[in-house]
Amino acid sequence: MMRDAAPFEPVDSRLTQPQFWGALATRWTSDVEETLVCCQVRQETHDVKSFFFRSPAGHTFSFEPGQFITLELEIDGETINRCYTISSSPTRPHTISITVKRVPGGKVSNWLHDNLQAGAAVRVLGPAGEFTCARHPARRYLFLSAGSGITPLMSMSRAHHELSEDRDIVFVHSARTPDDIIFARELDLIAANQGNFRTSFVCERVGTRTNWPGVTGFLTLPLLKLIAPDFMEREIFTCGPAPYMKAVRDLLGEARFDQQHYHEESFSFETLIEESPELLEEVTPAVIVGDEPGVAPDEAATQAFAVTFTRSNREIVCGPQQHVLDAARQAGVRLPASCTQGMCGTCKVKLVSGQVEMKHNGGIRQREIDQGMVLLCCSKPLTDLVVEK
Ligand SMILES: Cc1cc2nc3c(=O)[nH]c(=O)nc-3n(C[C@H](O)[C@H](O)[C@H](O)COP(=O)(O)OP(=O)(O)OC[C@H]3O[C@@H](n4cnc5c(N)ncnc54)[C@H](O)[C@@H]3O)c2cc1C
Ligand code: FES
Repeated sequence: MMRDAAPFEPVDSRLTQPQFWGALATRWTSDVEETLVCCQVRQETHDVKSFFFRSPAGHTFSFEPGQFITLELEIDGETINRCYTISSSPTRPHTISITVKRVPGGKVSNWLHDNLQAGAAVRVLGPAGEFTCARHPARRYLFLSAGSGITPLMSMSRAHHELSEDRDIVFVHSARTPDDIIFARELDLIAANQGNFRTSFVCERVGTRTNWPGVTGFLTLPLLKLIAPDFMEREIFTCGPAPYMKAVRDLLGEARFDQQHYHEESFSFETLIEESPELLEEVTPAVIVGDEPGVAPDEAATQAFAVTFTRSNREIVCGPQQHVLDAARQAGVRLPASCTQGMCGTCKVKLVSGQVEMKHNGGIRQREIDQGMVLLCCSKPLTDLVVEK
């Protein structure tokens, strides 16, 4: 007798079902597989979409909730990198999602909204990032977010929910209007399922709603005390636009909140570094990249070096203790960069000749280093350099 046809197609047509499920045991990192495939797009609000990705080889995703990936996109013939937090939970390891808000005039966010569809392949780097509750276990959390800053806290909330963890979480999200609240229904569902999970939405204005029962205005210390009277005893995670984060820091400062229990992530690295220069402290051991015999780092300490950019045909001088990106910017050479901490991969270039000392934070793969790629934001010259840019 003929068997019935399979009730569903294999997720990847290049793999049979047993191969696919077997491959699930293998974890994805961008070192083993550079390209992911977009498998679903969801409209979350009028200007926010979630994009889901899976591994064509069937790898599963392992990450800490709150971590991000970097997309490497070709837009108008230019390679552009941007970081996006993984908004899905690591408890659903077969796909990952990012949730992107359109930024007026923004290149990548608008391109993703207008072009990225199911079936498209995207080069991805990661996962990376330190902003995760997994590294700060606590019995009671306070999550504070605004706008698209909800994404890391959503991943953490989803993870706690799906693990049925009995954590006491107060999630206060600020948005322009009720229609701008991302994941509103899902957060309500989590709160309904989990007795110790409470949400509170603070909207600048009611917008088109006539029946908004929530709070309007901005988050203030008196309001926070009303929503979470015990906030001083909670582990706090904050993410949102720079003015919102400053307001949160100010109100927690006013309350004399213990900074050891405060964690934040900015989607704009430069703002964060201006305000927290200690982030520039180097945390990874240096690697020497380049195929020419260079000068030992301590010998190079007093020399300045020439850096030539082949595509723009510019030559600059880089001081002995200067990062090449800083020297280029000082000389008026515009180079793509985002985090300036060796995390996001935005400033990655090919080193045609010369040697650098590089202290990165995960923004480049070992294979790429072996191929002579470097991150200019965290590389200091040991010789004259020629860079393909
Ligand atoms: C760790 C991390 C995680 C992140 N996670 C998320 C996330 O989950 N969701 C999310 O939506 N975003 C996230 N971001 C932000 C994201 O990486 C992008 O910065 C964001 O999508 C905007 O990118 P864009 O290319 O659209 O805008 P860009 O093109 O970079 O422009 C940003 C702004 O600068 C202006 N601008 C650009 N060029 C110029 C110029 N030459 N002169 C003057 N103004 C200019 C634009 O008009 C726009 O207002 C994250 C960032 C980081 C660092
Ligand atoms: S700018 Fe992010 S790695 Fe250099």
